[in-house]
Amino acid sequence: MELMNAIYGRRAIRHFTNRDVPREVIAALAEAAAQAPSAMNSQSWAFAVFKGRERLQDFSERAKLYFQESFSPGSADPDVRMREILTKPGYNIFHDATTLVVVYAKPNHDRFAVGACYLAAQNLMLSAFDMGLGTCPIGFAQPWLDLDEIKAELGIPVQYTAVFPLVVGYPEGPAEDPHRHRPEFLN
Ligand SMILES: Cc1cc2nc3c(=O)[nH]c(=O)nc-3n(C[C@H](O)[C@H](O)[C@H](O)COP(=O)(O)O)c2cc1C
Repeated sequence: MELMNAIYGRRAIRHFTNRDVPREVIAALAEAAAQAPSAMNSQSWAFAVFKGRERLQDFSERAKLYFQESFSPGSADPDVRMREILTKPGYNIFHDATTLVVVYAKPNHDRFAVGACYLAAQNLMLSAFDMGLGTCPIGFAQPWLDLDEIKAELGIPVQYTAVFPLVVGYPEGPAEDPHRHRPEFLN
């Protein structure tokens, strides 16, 4: 696939089939993610994979509660929209996907580690699209995944920072095509 087709064709996917994403596919996606640039070639990313729809449903309920605690009463947009989404009965922040990948920043004193993780995640999402898979970033899960007690529960060293959670799966049907503004130039 041409790179520009992937850049313009990738969409956030929120409906997935039941088909499992094999471990070797995830490994290939992580390899592609690890080709991203990083400051001083620090390669400050690490990956964890969590599988199972029921397990992710449980994560979703707990992450939703934690995220909602961060809303102050009467807070402004986009909190209002986020609150609307999160309080919808039965809303699963992982869109009923069966595979969650989390990109963690290593505790290696790279001051740009978080940026590197975002670049790695973008590589992963474009590569997934190239392989016929769909992805969706799940920012709602990030604060909960980064709690020390949750990292301990999940077997993640607490010194690692949860940066970019995303679900991966086989898309069910076409995605929405969100509008993009023209790029803003400041000079
Ligand atoms: C940092 C970040 C966090 C996001 N968090 C969520 C999320 O929690 N749930 C969700 O459904 N989409 C999430 N998204 C996906 C965006 O809604 C989506 O990228 C945006 O609407 C543009 O659509 P597109 O990716 O199809 O072009 C997130 C995207 C980014 C970059």
